[in-house]
Amino acid sequence: MTTDSQKKRAALKALDFVENGMTLGLGTGSTAEHFVHALAERVKDDLSLTCVSTSLRTADLAESLGIGICDIDDVSHIDLTVDGADEVDSDLQLIKGGGGALLREKIVAAASDRMVVIVDEGKVVDPLGAFPLPVEVVPFGMKVTAGKLARTFEMYGCPSVDVQLRQLDNGEAFVTDGGHFILDCSCSEISQPKPLAEALSRLPGVVDHGLFIDIASVVIIGRDNEIDILEK
Ligand code: 5RP
Repeated sequence: MTTDSQKKRAALKALDFVENGMTLGLGTGSTAEHFVHALAERVKDDLSLTCVSTSLRTADLAESLGIGICDIDDVSHIDLTVDGADEVDSDLQLIKGGGGALLREKIVAAASDRMVVIVDEGKVVDPLGAFPLPVEVVPFGMKVTAGKLARTFEMYGCPSVDVQLRQLDNGEAFVTDGGHFILDCSCSEISQPKPLAEALSRLPGVVDHGLFIDIASVVIIGRDNEIDILEK
């Protein structure tokens, strides 16, 4: 079975958490897209939902499949968000932002009663950190911010962090839906995710980062012949 089949398996399982009448947050990335496709089939079959999106890309996909998307400020609350992740540890802490949507993903997930994370088995790690941590920054003073990021990683046990501006294939900086840049921070292992997350959030110039601490309530892991579910 391929990684993509594992993603699809996890995405289909997440449908079990969806109930008629819910307000739902739709995540970003290839696993979340499997979920949106499956959800669209249910919506055609009469499931009634209000949906908000974590990215313009997911909103475009959902609308092309017949799922209406509302502005997050037009809903009173969000019952459930279903999203992918780049890494998940056994405490259900996450690294997200590989697709560059971490800010909206965090806003939507943190506003939701529950966040269900859908991943293939390759995303399950201990500790976090092999995947470079995406940090969303304002373009002004980006190099100053990158220096502060490196020193902050050092303070929390990651001595040789490499901070790289995320770029498109043509060499231009990748720009998020919010108009910011992404600095990808490679450090191989994050031994203290909670204090690092708090320290990164305090840095001027940092809009947000891809450490999702105590936000996920359920993780669905798609494997070759089975599904594992981790719950808080
Ligand atoms: C986007 C994300 C994605 O959820 C994450 O990158 C996983 O992507 P995929 O499902 O394509 O492996 O955080 O910002």
